[in-house]
Amino acid sequence: MARIIAGIGSSHVPAIGAAIDNKQTEEPYWKRVFSGFERSKEWMAKAKPDVAIVVYNDHASAFSVEIVPTFALGCAAEFPPADEGWGPRPVPVVKGHPELAAHIAQSVILDEFDLTIVNKMEVDHGLTVPMNLLFGSPAAWPCPVIPLAVNVVLYPPPTGHRCFMLGRAIRKAVASYPEDLRVVIFGTGGMSHQISGPRAGLINSKFDKAFLDNLTRSPKKLVDIPHLEYMREAGAEGIEMVMWLIMRGALDDAIEEVYRFYTVPASNTAVGHIILENARAAKAKKPAAGKSKNKRPAAKLKRAAARANHRNVLRGR
Ligand SMILES: [Fe+2]
Repeated sequence: MARIIAGIGSSHVPAIGAAIDNKQTEEPYWKRVFSGFERSKEWMAKAKPDVAIVVYNDHASAFSVEIVPTFALGCAAEFPPADEGWGPRPVPVVKGHPELAAHIAQSVILDEFDLTIVNKMEVDHGLTVPMNLLFGSPAAWPCPVIPLAVNVVLYPPPTGHRCFMLGRAIRKAVASYPEDLRVVIFGTGGMSHQISGPRAGLINSKFDKAFLDNLTRSPKKLVDIPHLEYMREAGAEGIEMVMWLIMRGALDDAIEEVYRFYTVPASNTAVGHIILENARAAKAKKPAAGKSKNKRPAAKLKRAAARANHRNVLRGR
């Protein structure tokens, strides 16, 4: 049977993609951001998922304002990178997993979540930037991807509770798929940012860090945050963070936080990142006591993240 082994939260700041495409990753400003994902890439290389479900939002690339689906599931065999005004990003075409996607659509829709089924779609930075951050820049993405586009650009977006419950329905759908697949699910977007208006440039690290804490320990505290609170505390585009709740809803209640990274700013946005393993999956992969040279990998990863964050504090970031 298929199973979700882990959830990944990651910002999808478009300027991060531009920094990769323009080979600026070693510049001090960007190195600060990319260094926080080095351990994540190592984690992903070891996890070797068979499929990734990537929850993201389209930024008027695949969908114009003429049609804005609340939840759109990509069921196609492939998803080319979108032209966002400067030509398509030089990243591989995203290969889909039509069979699992169709299974998820059937299970979730019969569970009364009315997804839009999308059989042709281009994907923008909302999906491709987190792919780069976790998989690097390979010639071909190492696993198929099922995109799930969520409307957070045109009012009203779905509530956090609705997103969390959709995650629950996705978890059930994946668990009923007969093939033995190891699946990771991404929640992308955020963290706090506002790109226009008098509050442009708003960043609220206190809100973001509390969100990350609760995502791990008390996700139910997050599901009832109203849209206005996201707008007030995290800025107009901070509403993207509801997509992280789909990821968290798709995980078990018992999870292990294996990595976290937070830095500000990237462009004008707070960058947050977290890796949560289902406790069952984490336990299953741990070597027997006494046989490991590295008995506390999660603690080591946390210390590495703390060191990276500390360096950022010293730099006044
Ligand atoms: Fe976005």
